Amino acid sequence: MAGAIRCGETRLIDHVFLMKRRPIIAIDGPAGSGKSTVTKLIAKKLKLLYLDTGAMYRALSWLMIKESIDYKKEKKLKNILKNISIVFKSNTNSHQDVYINDYCVTEEIRTQKISSIVSKISSIKEVRKFLVEEQRKIGESGGLVAEGRDIGTTVFPNAELKIFLTASIDERAKRRKSDKNSKDSQEIDLHTLKELIKKRDFEDSSREISPLIKANDAIEIITDGHTINEVVDKIIDLYNDKIPKETEIK
Ligand code: DC
Repeated sequence: MAGAIRCGETRLIDHVFLMKRRPIIAIDGPAGSGKSTVTKLIAKKLKLLYLDTGAMYRALSWLMIKESIDYKKEKKLKNILKNISIVFKSNTNSHQDVYINDYCVTEEIRTQKISSIVSKISSIKEVRKFLVEEQRKIGESGGLVAEGRDIGTTVFPNAELKIFLTASIDERAKRRKSDKNSKDSQEIDLHTLKELIKKRDFEDSSREISPLIKANDAIEIITDGHTINEVVDKIIDLYNDKIPKETEIK
């Protein structure tokens, strides 16, 4: 927040900075809404840190399968979570790699096997508590754009700009099918892919803790019929309106 005093046309004092951290943009929405592509581009253009919270839920799901962790045993799970570290590192292609306990899982977390269990894992109270804390640590000093399902409602409820990105189910399934990062999607027929997305939408929006819902103060953008650049430009315009350059903490 910044304040300035004006007397008519004259500015009497310069801005008083009350902002404790750099701004945060929260981008939530269902699978295939274009969140990842849009969020990455915004991070690049606005020089913000990019936080893919879905990758954290996916990495944890990967580890649960790999180490045959019985996630239904709450106490045991709590102890396991204490020893888990998830970190993002920039790789040589200026993309991010995600590591869980030193395993690089960037590619493996994009398989249908992980997509089919991640909603279940992400509905567990202990898992959400652990990952939300990790995400808040990453965003402590701001300067980031985070994408997920509960960023504007739970992780960063004070984010300066909240976007709820969505698109019709047909559009989302088509996008997933042509998404090179979504490992198995190319092999699944469009109808099945649509059903799988609908199932995940239902699980993500009907879970008890932090379901996928639009925050009251989020701006909804329906991306059907819009190019990625149009959506990115719109969000950047909204950001510049909310956070004039002169008020930003460097
Ligand atoms: O964005 P994604 O498809 O990679 O997310 C994978 C799953 O992780 C999604 O189905 C629900 C869960 N998720 C969540 O519950 N909360 C988040 N902030 C991000 C993802």
